[in-house]
Amino acid sequence: MEEEWVYCEMPSGKYCELETLLGTTPITLAIRMSGGDNKQLFVKQLETQEKTTKEAEILAHVMGHPNVITLHHHSTETCKLYFEYASGGDLQDLLDEHGFAESHTILVMRTLLKALCFLHKIGIVHRDLKPSNLVFMDSTDISSLKIADFGISTFLNAPGANSTSGTRGYQAPEVYSGKGYGMKVDVFSVGVIAYCLLFSDRMPFGKEDSGPSLIPLVFPDDVPLSPLARDFLSKLLEFDPEKRPTAEEASRHPWLAGLSFHREQQRKSSYHDTYHFFKGSKGVDMNMESGDFASQNYVLRKNK
Ligand SMILES: Nc1ncnc2c1ncn2[C@@H]1O[C@H](COP(=O)(O)OP(=O)(O)O)[C@@H](O)[C@H]1O
Ligand SMILES: [Mg+2]
Repeated sequence: MEEEWVYCEMPSGKYCELETLLGTTPITLAIRMSGGDNKQLFVKQLETQEKTTKEAEILAHVMGHPNVITLHHHSTETCKLYFEYASGGDLQDLLDEHGFAESHTILVMRTLLKALCFLHKIGIVHRDLKPSNLVFMDSTDISSLKIADFGISTFLNAPGANSTSGTRGYQAPEVYSGKGYGMKVDVFSVGVIAYCLLFSDRMPFGKEDSGPSLIPLVFPDDVPLSPLARDFLSKLLEFDPEKRPTAEEASRHPWLAGLSFHREQQRKSSYHDTYHFFKGSKGVDMNMESGDFASQNYVLRKNK
């Protein structure tokens, strides 16, 4: 792909844009030329002005939370959204590299649910939570995770909020049953993400395009999993939304509260591959208490 810097002027300053590749996906990055901060931005090109306005409107409501992506500005004319640049990649990239130990999944879940509680409190349902829509500002810090891609997010009371949308496999059963749904569709997706992390990208109900049917939830027996982790997954992956916890309730699940029990399990059971990996990498000490985890940085990917 040919890379070419293009100079452009926006109401908020002057930028240079560069078309480049993120893996195999063409993306545009922009560098602010004025204002003295030389900030790198991530540019998302949309197909229509309508989509641009809609995504920008939702983003205007969610900005300011440390775990939600910040939109710097947008151009309806060119259908471009200019975001802060998350240089740590997305969660799917990390999953493609390795599975996650329970301790790291707990940290991802805590951060993700904290941001989701915020979205739900202001009445927004994301509707497309999945690893590729969760980005990291810093690849060495799980708490730098941010929810991105509000392309199909909506206010729950908006017209069309009950339409079938999202990515099969991550969707709650009520989304495509056509019976109407609420905020808890996001909680189901969080459950699918947790399952993918713990079981090295395996989906709880089959492939991405199949979606959950009435097959029971099973846990692969080649990965040791604590009873609390099983309980967390079973509760979030509950088919009946009435019985499924809210984001707030899920964030108070005892599995997320502490790591002592988990540490004990890891000592007893044969170790996760990733445990060996993380043990050898900077910053993760499985003997730490949960409070210590929150205050430290963690290496998420191998140093290449
Ligand atoms: N602010 C950002 N900084 C860096 N990369 C990002 C950012 N937002 C998204 N991405 C990357 O670009 C991909 C596509 O962006 P996304 O908003 O999910 O658009 P789409 O609607 O095409 O899925 C994401 O999966 C992620 O890898
Ligand atoms: Mg996306």
